[in-house]
Order: sequence, then C-alpha cells, then structure tokens
Amino acid sequence: MKCLEYKNADQMPILGLGTWKSAPGEVYTAVKEAVKMGYRHIDCAAIYGNEKEIGQAISELIKEGVVQREELWITSKLWNNNHGKDNVVPALKQTLSDLQLEYLDLYLIHWPVAFKKDVAGAQKAEDYLSLEEQPIADTWLGMEKAVELGLSRNIGVSNFSVKKLKALMKVATIKPEMNQVELHPYFQQNQLVDYCRKNDIHVTAYSPLGSSDRPEGLKSKDEPILLQDSRIEAIAKTKEITVAQVILAWIAQRGISVIPKSVNPARLQQNLASRDITLSEKELQEMAALNIDRRYVDGKFWEVAGGPYTAANVWDE
Ligand code: A2P
Repeated sequence: MKCLEYKNADQMPILGLGTWKSAPGEVYTAVKEAVKMGYRHIDCAAIYGNEKEIGQAISELIKEGVVQREELWITSKLWNNNHGKDNVVPALKQTLSDLQLEYLDLYLIHWPVAFKKDVAGAQKAEDYLSLEEQPIADTWLGMEKAVELGLSRNIGVSNFSVKKLKALMKVATIKPEMNQVELHPYFQQNQLVDYCRKNDIHVTAYSPLGSSDRPEGLKSKDEPILLQDSRIEAIAKTKEITVAQVILAWIAQRGISVIPKSVNPARLQQNLASRDITLSEKELQEMAALNIDRRYVDGKFWEVAGGPYTAANVWDE
C-alpha cells in the first residue's frame, strides 16, 4: 500500500476510512468489513460520537487475528472544548479508552476554534473562547505532552490556514506533521498544499467525495454535486471506473492522504480499489482544471452573534 512517511519513519497508508457521519451501529460493521478487505488506516474524532463502536470493532479484529495493532494507522482529533493545555492528555485518554487502544498513530487539533471546557456544542457567544483567550500555542503544549507520554506517536492539526500553520511552526518544539483539510476537485487547496510540501507537513483530504450525506443544516441549496460532474464522468468512462475512483486516485497521485467515508461494502471495496488506478498526465490536467475554490464545509457554523469566530477569520480569507 502507498504510504506517507513521518519523521520518525512511521508509515501512514495514503488511503484511509473516514468515519464522520457514520452512525453508531453502522460504523462497527463498516470498520470490520473495511479492515477485512485491506483498509489499514481509520480516521476518527471524539466529536463524531462513534469511537466506542470503532474501538469494539478494532478490538475484535485484533482478537480474531485479522490484523495486529502495529499494522493499523489510527488517527483521532481533539475537540474544541479541550484546548486548554492540561485538558489535552485527559481528552486523548478518553479517546484511547473508547477506541480500546494504548496509543494513537496521529492526534490532531480538530479546529482552530476553542469552546469553554464544559461546552460540547457551542450555541452562543459565551460558549466560545477566542484564540487570544485560548491560544493554539498553549493547546500545542498539551499535544507535545501527548507525544512525550507515548499516547500518540505523531501530532498535527486540521482546518488550519497557511497563516495559522506559520504561527504554529514558530512556537512548536515538535512540528505539526499533518494538516487535515477539505480537499477535492472543486476545492483543490493548491497554495496550502504547496506550503505544506515545502514545510514537511503532510496533507489529508477530508470530504473528498463532496460529503453529500452531511446534515441538511450544513448544506446550501445551490451546491454543485461533485459525484455527478460530467467531466469526471468522461474520464471514468474511458477508464471503466467510477467517478469516486477517479477522484480518490487523483488525490493520492498528488501525494495527499484521502479518507473517503462509506458504510456500504461495495463502495468500501470500490474506494479501496482506487489504490491501483493511475491517471495519465492529461487526465491529471483535466482534473486540475475543475477547481472552483468551492468548499462544502464552509465554517459558517462557528458564527454566532457577538462571538469571536467568523468563517473569514477561521480560514484567514
Ligand atoms: P455511503 O456511506 O452510503 O457509501 P465523503 O467521504 O466526501 O464525506 O463522502 C461520503 C458520502 O459519499 C457518503 O454519502 C457515502 O455514502 C458516499 N460514498 C462513499 N463512497 C462512494 C462511492 N464510491 N460512490 C458513491 N458514493 C460514495
């Protein structure tokens, strides 16, 4: 399997299984099926509310001898209400307990957005802490502690702009090795990917297939449907593969990790098979031409009246 190498020589399989929006109940079966098929990388997060089911599936797979712990790459993410440096390790320990693991391969700060400690889902201005009140540099001290304690082998961030990465790189003793961001043909993130390449930060693409199963409240009426793009369909047709496979192969060919979510065995298999697909130079150029800088996950959900966050200041755009 194609892998991304970390500074400590750890190898992260480039294709992983996404678990955002995978309901408890469904995700248990999806993880079991996926690992049996050959998936070795699972992307999790405390806020997805399904780490216990994933942990149950992983623990059974190990007991059944399907896979060994060391063969798996497990990522999870710190939720916004645990950004205080002394809250990071306890939050990670909860995730480890839910996942029934001794360590993570990668732990990420989920968003550059902070909530007060007792708030899980912020609704009003008072639920938030600004990044001046709760600096990322402070959160990062907790992330570094997690590495020192052997609770996570690697650390990184998610949803960080170039500006926020630059600020973090200045203060970090252990440099962030991953930035997980939305990335797909309509939102190619060329500047960010370029900065990350030059600074030895890997990139993971979330919502690679356009996340059409996200909650209605997070959608806009006019949004383009990525999986129905006629130009990608044309490439898929000539190669006798699916639109999803073209997209996944294109992302992996850019050296970017990709974590399509599925709970359907046929689609899990299809997505895994994208590992064996190579696009030609011409097809890569055709894909590059599809960029319209269109996010699906727009960050507007962090905006509340009088609150510290706006989509513009989260993305620094
Ligand atoms: P399902 O879980 O029923 O397979 P993203 O990874 O961008 O968040 O997209 C996830 C959405 O795409 C889910 O609705 C998922 O549905 C669907 N999906 C996953 N793989 C494929 C595929 N190969 N073809 C079509 N839809 C897919």
